[in-house]
Amino acid sequence: VNAAMVITEYLASRRSLIDRTLDAHLPPAATPPTAIHEAMRYAVLGGGKRIRPTLAIAAAEACGAEVEPLLVSFAALELIHTYSLVHDDLPALDDDDLRGGRKTTHVVFGEAIGILTGDALLTEAFSWLARPAAGADAQLRALREVAEAVDSKGMIGGQVADLEGSIDTAPTLEQLEFIHRNKTAKLITASVMLGGILANAPASQLDVLREYGQATGLLFQIIDDLLDQEQTTEALGKTAGKDAAQRKLTYPALIGVAAAHARADELLRLAETRAAMIRGPVNYLGAIARYVCERRS
Ligand code: IPE
Ligand code: IPE
Ligand code: MG
Ligand code: MG
Ligand code: MG
Repeated sequence: VNAAMVITEYLASRRSLIDRTLDAHLPPAATPPTAIHEAMRYAVLGGGKRIRPTLAIAAAEACGAEVEPLLVSFAALELIHTYSLVHDDLPALDDDDLRGGRKTTHVVFGEAIGILTGDALLTEAFSWLARPAAGADAQLRALREVAEAVDSKGMIGGQVADLEGSIDTAPTLEQLEFIHRNKTAKLITASVMLGGILANAPASQLDVLREYGQATGLLFQIIDDLLDQEQTTEALGKTAGKDAAQRKLTYPALIGVAAAHARADELLRLAETRAAMIRGPVNYLGAIARYVCERRS
């Protein structure tokens, strides 16, 4: 069997576990008021790579855990990610009307419901994370890890810096790395950590997982920047070329396409090295980092 097939099958199988969990645990569309529940389900169940919960599953597996009891906690990561995209696409932020090959949530349901859908998904996520799944100490630690990743010193801070940044205002590499580490890498790192924490991994393994997550997270956003420039709208399912049109501060814009690919390769090597330090029975962490680097959408 060829190695690329193996990771493809792994990703597909974990994605279907996550899709099933999301569908089963999101409030039914008929729940009143139906507008918000239809919008939440529309935003979450429209596809997506499910890379954050997949990373949590892969980390937990690499640390030797049985993942079935942890799936609701891991699926909560996708609710937070989806909320961040629904808000990212709003007219006041990136103003996008296409996501996952479909109209964005605010275009279909209106801007007010779009805003409230993000609020509802974020709140729902913490409700799912608070459901009994592992030991109480591990869950409290996990809750704090995820909350801190997406607060104003994490993902929201990154989104603010992204809005404030521009390729036209003499940006520095430090400013760019701050944006990417906060808006994207922190939630990805927290996803890896959620898997390790709920698997009761020892501190030494959690340290390695954190370094793996930080490298994979920054890698993820550098590739997102490159894809925006190198791929078509059809391939991405979201509007290509938006970053250049909006004068966004991105890796290819600041250091050029070739240097951005070189930085991505360097981060992939770091992620693979850290992944190889976790000696569990099933370890797809290195293969996932490679997929993140080589993906086409
Ligand atoms: C897009 O994330 C937003 C970023 C943080 C770059 P993904 O590329 O994970 O989006 P989906 O969920 O697969 O559509
Ligand atoms: C989104 O970054 C980051 C978050 C939503 C936190 P982008 O704005 O680059 O994501 P896309 O390209 O719209 O998916
Ligand atoms: Mg954005
Ligand atoms: Mg955007
Ligand atoms: Mg982007």
